[in-house]
Amino acid sequence: MEENLNIQWYPGHMTKTRRMMEDQLKLVDAVCEILDARIPVSSRNPDIDAICGSKPRMVILNRIDMADPAQTKAWAQHFRAQGLAVVQTDCKSRKGISDFVPALRKLLAEKLRRYAEKGQAGRPLKLMIVGIPNVGKSTFINQVAGRKGAKAENRPGVTRGKQWVTVDQGLLLLDTPGILWPKFDDPEVGLRLAWTGAVKDDILDIETLAMKLMEMLWQRYPEAVTARYKVEAAPDEAGWALLQQAGRKRGFLLSGGEIDTERMARVLLEEYRSCKLGRFTLETPESN
Ligand code: G4P
Repeated sequence: MEENLNIQWYPGHMTKTRRMMEDQLKLVDAVCEILDARIPVSSRNPDIDAICGSKPRMVILNRIDMADPAQTKAWAQHFRAQGLAVVQTDCKSRKGISDFVPALRKLLAEKLRRYAEKGQAGRPLKLMIVGIPNVGKSTFINQVAGRKGAKAENRPGVTRGKQWVTVDQGLLLLDTPGILWPKFDDPEVGLRLAWTGAVKDDILDIETLAMKLMEMLWQRYPEAVTARYKVEAAPDEAGWALLQQAGRKRGFLLSGGEIDTERMARVLLEEYRSCKLGRFTLETPESN
């Protein structure tokens, strides 16, 4: 892709966070990585394996309310096959949250058994939550800990004093979720993060972003596009023409009769993000 994605990322922060995470890793028994179930690859940090080393790992597939259920199941199997514990959640409705503690105790069964042998049966497990910005880390921590409101401090390096959140007598979570950075230098990853709302829209001009979204949707989910926007076109129709057609059908016209593609672009992005077109997963285990 020839466009330059204008994504702001902060190499200084990245190094600092990574160092902080590596320090904190020594304090925990396992790492729990939260992914967006719609984009399990793009919402992942490419360095996560290196950062976590040999720590037991769990993947939370979050936002399952927005993803294709069949694909979520396929992804869960995919990650389990890699030896990771997997929990599927919708943190808004709390769906799947109650699966988390049992899955963690199963993952760390060996450790729990050793604690019991040493007469330390009540010793709590400690866990670090990591994920890219906006993936749902704070909501997850709040839901698991049964606390409301306050968003956990989300900037790297802060929250020095109060480090741990007690879930119950047997489990402590690190209060500051570790922020990972996705693979921003891959333009496809950048687009998926922007479409799903993980990064701000200004990585590309809004019409280009929507045009590319339309093209992807037309290739993968043509029925959904036709049902919502009454578009009729050849399977390989370009995104721009599809966006224009949708705008015309919606009656988005400027004073000279020209189609208001910018308005259509905003509508498409909003309707896609609020799942009005359906629940789509943009990455499959087979293609990754
Ligand atoms: P972060 O700490 O990783 O940065 O993410 P945070 O918890 O702040 O969550 C980012 C947004 O994602 C929040 O929405 C949150 O409600 C939403 N969210 C988290 N998990 C889920 C989920 O499983 N499904 C859905 N549909 N949304 C989820 P927000 O718009 O910032 O706030 P609000 O609308 O909840 O007030």
